[in-house]
Amino acid sequence: MFKSEVYIKRREQLHKLMKSGVALFIGNNESPFNYPANTYHFRQDSDFLYFFGIDLPGFAALIDFDSGTDIIFGNDFDMDDIIWMGPQPTVKELAAKSGIKTTFPMAKLEEMVQAALLKKRRVHFLPPYRGESKMLLGSILKENPCQMKTLASGELIKAVVSMRSVKEKIEIDEIEKAVEIAYDMHVTAMKMCKLGIGEQEIFGAIEGIALAKGAGTSFPVILSINGQTLHNHSHGNILKKDKMMVTDAGAETNLHYSSDITRTTPVGGKFSSMQKDVYEVVLKANTEAIKATKPGISNRDIHFIACRIIAEGMKGLGLMKGSIEDAVEAGAHALFMPHGIGHMMGLDVHDMEGLGENNVGYSDEIKRSKQFGTAFLRFALQYKPGHVFTIEPGCYFIPELVAKWSMEGKFRDFISYDKVLKFMPVGGVRIEDNVLITDKGHKVLGKAIPKTVREIETVCS
Ligand code: GLY
Ligand code: MN
Ligand code: MN
Repeated sequence: MFKSEVYIKRREQLHKLMKSGVALFIGNNESPFNYPANTYHFRQDSDFLYFFGIDLPGFAALIDFDSGTDIIFGNDFDMDDIIWMGPQPTVKELAAKSGIKTTFPMAKLEEMVQAALLKKRRVHFLPPYRGESKMLLGSILKENPCQMKTLASGELIKAVVSMRSVKEKIEIDEIEKAVEIAYDMHVTAMKMCKLGIGEQEIFGAIEGIALAKGAGTSFPVILSINGQTLHNHSHGNILKKDKMMVTDAGAETNLHYSSDITRTTPVGGKFSSMQKDVYEVVLKANTEAIKATKPGISNRDIHFIACRIIAEGMKGLGLMKGSIEDAVEAGAHALFMPHGIGHMMGLDVHDMEGLGENNVGYSDEIKRSKQFGTAFLRFALQYKPGHVFTIEPGCYFIPELVAKWSMEGKFRDFISYDKVLKFMPVGGVRIEDNVLITDKGHKVLGKAIPKTVREIETVCS
């Protein structure tokens, strides 16, 4: 946990942002894996961590905006628990670490929430994303658990998003630690990227680094020589000649802050000339997009800077033609980059997505595009100092998409399908870094992870 003052200050800020009522926060519980006593690795809810810091299952909290009190609910461990789990802190001790004096057993929560509802007070809560939390909320509020997302408080979501979006110095330090772990994961993956090695062996090695140096990975590792599949979680291939391995992997620190880095490495450590041609285009999109990143510019602007560079690069290689401005406006570039430039990152690798992607990355004025490709942009708003983003352009040769568009004759004025077919063996390239928006510009977080052709070939050799 951070010092108790951190949580006290955050809750004070929330008290100021919210007008009245109470906010109910449900911490995560253990989730059974294959039978009740065999559970998944426990991960606390990020909003619970942000406001209370208690990193254990079985807790809830109420923040009363009218009386100004904050309360922690939880049950003390009994002797049976201690026999199996060892000595445990009391609820009072844990609450004190969070700067909270008032605690009650869990059984009291429903009674207190019902008392508030009886007085016609508003009970705010955030949208739950786990079945267990939906059931618990439903039973406390006496509402249909399936309705919990629609009944969630827009006012509380807005307040929490405004706070969590701007990272404190201690949070940035944690994210940098997560990127440092990712450095070791990615350099290890590059060194292991040799002919005849199994993807699974590399996947296991880098997952092990994340566990040895922090709380594990921040999302399931994406590692494949079929990098044209954007989120490829199958690791069954043996590394083959003329393939590139896309490794999209990040770590979570012990305080649960994330990193999210992608590197693309040629099997055997040397780029072929065709691989290099495509790689250099994506690298330019990555570095130019990062260069342009500063307060006031929007993530949508940065997205289109990268899309134009990808399209210009494809034109330079003969895969696209005509006006690049018109091609990007029409959405033709999305054949090669069918995803957004990046997302916010913090306690969640896609930060606060549980609160609703559009609540984080869009506004009443700025609505999500319906165009293929741009529709996947998770955040379109302006950057502010303290925001942390991923910048992750890519270029992919997806056989099914190329076949569909080519058969439909889609964007024939902008795409030379004959030439595209020649590049299919390249598979996919993505290069992703984690960037902090500063007062005047930006800072790429963590130790620089090799990403130029020469740097990668040097590490591999
Ligand atoms: N790690 C998944 C992503 O980059 O969004
Ligand atoms: Mn990623
Ligand atoms: Mn990402």
